[in-house]
Amino acid sequence: MEHWVLDSPGIFPRAVERARDVLAAGDLVAIPTETVYGLAANALNPGAVQKIFKVKGRPATNPVIVHVGSLDMAGQCAKNWPPLATDLARVFWPGPLTLVVTRSEAIPPVVTAGGSTVGIRWPRHPFVQALLDSCNFPLAAPSANPSGTISPTRGEHVEKMLRGKISLLIDAGPCLHGIESTVLDLTVDPPRLLRHGAIGHEALRRVVPELSMNFEDAEPILKSPGRLERHYAPVTPLRTAKWGKEQELALQLAEMGTTAAETVVLVHGATISPERYRDVRVMPPDPDAYARALFAEWHRADELGAKLILVEAPPEGAEWEAIRDRLRRATFPTS
Ligand code: TXA
Ligand code: MG
Repeated sequence: MEHWVLDSPGIFPRAVERARDVLAAGDLVAIPTETVYGLAANALNPGAVQKIFKVKGRPATNPVIVHVGSLDMAGQCAKNWPPLATDLARVFWPGPLTLVVTRSEAIPPVVTAGGSTVGIRWPRHPFVQALLDSCNFPLAAPSANPSGTISPTRGEHVEKMLRGKISLLIDAGPCLHGIESTVLDLTVDPPRLLRHGAIGHEALRRVVPELSMNFEDAEPILKSPGRLERHYAPVTPLRTAKWGKEQELALQLAEMGTTAAETVVLVHGATISPERYRDVRVMPPDPDAYARALFAEWHRADELGAKLILVEAPPEGAEWEAIRDRLRRATFPTS
């Protein structure tokens, strides 16, 4: 696998060109975005999109997001472009919001898992923007990880998970958000949140006051596996906990059938003695920085071969919702 690191201004345009050539030839490229790394293919080439499903081991029933570089390109992917989509795009695009609208004939069925809707997003990352300008075709891109595992937020995560399976990785360092885009379904009334993500629902509500968060109502055919219980999970079992004194933490670990020495603890507010544990990592105090760090900490804990990842429960506030969502989905055994 070619692994291009964007560490000098000169390499940027060459990487854009190389990625475009590989994509135009119908092959896959792992690309940085502002959320997580994506595994991209020419969205208009069904054979190329098919390769995404093969490399990820992704069920054919799970639709892939289409990335566009302009409102014009977004309009071409949709059968009709609702006025609300224009309003949302004005506020949140380019950025980490995926809008589900009706699919146009231009988008091959393999992209949408045979469905009549398509998820579209205009990403903010400068590399993808330059790439989309250069390609002139939209890019189908799920996260660049095997299906069911943690999304990659750094080039080395992609390298670890997809080496030998793809021919090109463009590495622009750590992703800005470190958590996937928010997915919003505009084909139902009222519009429905399908996945919590980098844009909080309070911000969305300012544009869509009637926003529905009733995930359970979503028809199974809308199959957004972002809603599946166990997803985005590290290999190492993960639990969330709260404790007062450090002795309480020891008791809880014993109840979970493990010891401090086998546990990686991600602390948020608590202070604990680091030498007792397999590792202790202090998570940032604000939700944006916390999200940026979280998946990287899980990847790291997996590499350490710990028996348990214990996460100190984050605060209650709405701005922590996407983080609580990912923690719930990663919790093992599910409760
Ligand atoms: O931030 C992101 O969204 C990243 C970057 C690469 O853009 N992509 C990403 O893609 O997370 P993926 O495939 O891992 O997750 C896309 C989610 C899935 O839960 C999928 O089911 C849902 O969006 N989705 C895509 N198209 C859909 C559609 N037409 N209807 C309902 N859900 C859809
Ligand atoms: Mg994914």
